[in-house]
Amino acid sequence: MKPKFIVLLGAPGAGKGTQAEGLSKTLSIPHVASGDLFREALAEGTELGLLAKSYIEKGELVPDKVTIAMVQKRVAASDCEGGAILDGFPRTIEQAEALKRVLTEEGKSVCIVLYIKVSTETLMARLGGRWICRNCGAVYHSLFDPPKEAGKCDKCGGELYQRSDDTPEVQRKRIDVYLAQTAPLIEHYRSQGLLVEIYGDKSIEEVQPDMLKAIETSC
Ligand code: AP5
Repeated sequence: MKPKFIVLLGAPGAGKGTQAEGLSKTLSIPHVASGDLFREALAEGTELGLLAKSYIEKGELVPDKVTIAMVQKRVAASDCEGGAILDGFPRTIEQAEALKRVLTEEGKSVCIVLYIKVSTETLMARLGGRWICRNCGAVYHSLFDPPKEAGKCDKCGGELYQRSDDTPEVQRKRIDVYLAQTAPLIEHYRSQGLLVEIYGDKSIEEVQPDMLKAIETSC
């Protein structure tokens, strides 16, 4: 079967991570999230993690060179042979071109770019209420997808925390950075016939079938 490399594009809080988890299970391909890779590196105290921290805290993008090297290594791992759900990468035209180069060298390609379109008001509401499990990484929302018990993960009982870049000031900065540096990818991929717009201003359960239908048609 042809490998499925699926790119999820959308502003911070659009629901890329939430939807990627469901798609990864349904399609049996890994969820590769550049933000998670940086946060893991930071938790391990590596040089990459410490470098990324200084950018993440300010809501800025980590430089392309290090980001591309990190994702290239992840995508080359054996579990990505059949494809991957790419969440948060690419985020610049340079990253998109690097991804194309890397996949082409292996005789692979991106089969679809799902652009999750959500209003700015919704983004702010989603980021402000996000809680994440410190142990297994499950994502909740205090209003839209609350855990059964406040502060505790339903799946593993782990402690829930809020990301340090989910403060209102950093949220606004991340959205501005998205508009300036990542939004140009919408037209970039549209011109290549790869972009499918997904209306993301509806419930988590309603968004997923729209994505699966588009993937079935294109991949
Ligand atoms: P990253 O971790 O990628 O963050 P982001 O892109 O800002 O995206 P988020 O994780 O905030 O949002 P999401 O769309 O995944 O939303 P989620 O599903 O969690 O990046 C962090 C930083 O790392 C960057 O600022 C940068 O510094 C660096 N970085 C990462 N990648 C990089 C790259 N390629 N290049 C350079 N630097 C990079 O949902 C949000 C909330 O909403 C959750 O609480 C969820 O429960 C809820 N929710 C989701 N969907 C719905 C729905 N349909 N209805 C109601 N609630 C919903």
